Amino acid sequence: MLDLEKIRKDFPILNQEVNGFPLIYLDNAATSQKPQVVIDALNEYYIGYNSNVHRGAHTLADKATGKFEDTRTAVKEFINASSTEEVILTKGTTEAINLVANTYGRQNIKEGDEVIISTMEHHSNIVPWQMICEEKGAKVKVMPINDNGEIIFEEFQKLISPKTKLISVVHVSNVLGTINDVEKIIEEAHRHNIPVLIDGAQSSPHFNVDVQKMDCDFYVFSSHKVYGPTGMGVLYGKKAILEEMPPFLGGGEMIKEVTFEKTTFNDLPFKFEAGTPNIGDTIALKTALDYVNEIGKDNIARHEEELLEYCTAAFQDIKRLKIIGTAKKKVSVISFLIDGIHPFDLGMMLDAKGIAIRTGHHCAQPLMNRFGIDGTARASFAVYNTKEEIDQMVESIHKIVARF
Ligand code: ALA
Repeated sequence: MLDLEKIRKDFPILNQEVNGFPLIYLDNAATSQKPQVVIDALNEYYIGYNSNVHRGAHTLADKATGKFEDTRTAVKEFINASSTEEVILTKGTTEAINLVANTYGRQNIKEGDEVIISTMEHHSNIVPWQMICEEKGAKVKVMPINDNGEIIFEEFQKLISPKTKLISVVHVSNVLGTINDVEKIIEEAHRHNIPVLIDGAQSSPHFNVDVQKMDCDFYVFSSHKVYGPTGMGVLYGKKAILEEMPPFLGGGEMIKEVTFEKTTFNDLPFKFEAGTPNIGDTIALKTALDYVNEIGKDNIARHEEELLEYCTAAFQDIKRLKIIGTAKKKVSVISFLIDGIHPFDLGMMLDAKGIAIRTGHHCAQPLMNRFGIDGTARASFAVYNTKEEIDQMVESIHKIVARF
């Protein structure tokens, strides 16, 4: 059992009223709130040892560098990478996918080749592949999904061909909450020697991730969804693949030696980290991961599963409400529609009661097209959410439905 009272106190933002009501924050798939320890870590860096990393020969720079690299080690452990050389620190999931598209993609995708993604991808795992495929005269192929929001494995198998150069698929859908069986997809891809990128933006906050066990070639995630700061993320890649890839951005840090004639590049992971990185936020990510580890990933997963079940059951009793995304395996993300009420209006009416949900296409327009809708309302739960908060949301929705 989690000590929810204590956990909620760790998040100062939760202790406020919004529009005259206690805040009920159910927009965690967009970004999670930050515990005080993470905010303190940022403050400590800027107050105590703000300095550039890997460059200075002074005490503050040494401390900043040490702490910065401690985060890399913490990330390695968080996802069970085999070495810190496989952990590239980026601006976020989006930059990490663009990095792979512009390096691995540009190097390996040729005219007539194909990249396979799925119907439930976020735009950040669609557009970079479209851009590189357009440049190369290659094609993006799409794994279809069933009406529950699950990838149809047999249809995916049919898409694989000698032209397939990469498969890039989301671990957990930010709209449907579906947990994809990525191990099965990876196994199938590897039978054909095709590398796989897993978009972990929505899996990393919810359950234990082991990149070695999964055997993915790339795994990407964002700090801000795992209780860390914004503007910071991770690209994991298998060392052998990263070593073959050309650099992404050119500049300081990613070089070994520069002359006007020629530049040689730095070793992993620095080859992919040009310029001054996001130091403070990177350091605070370690604090966030420590915080998650202290509560325990399995405890978080169990609590969120309970919230998902509880909310799903309560939604069954709301007239005209339809859940979009009914996969057998889901995380605590529920998209829904209410007949006769536009999601945006619903969001506004809930906001008037201090309840924050997200509405719209959730950066997944092709998925909306698949379901023949423009958007959904979406409630998404984190470790600090409670059944009482779900009760409040459900009660408010009942009243709104009765009124319209
Ligand atoms: N991708 C984030 C979401 O689903 C922002 O809300």
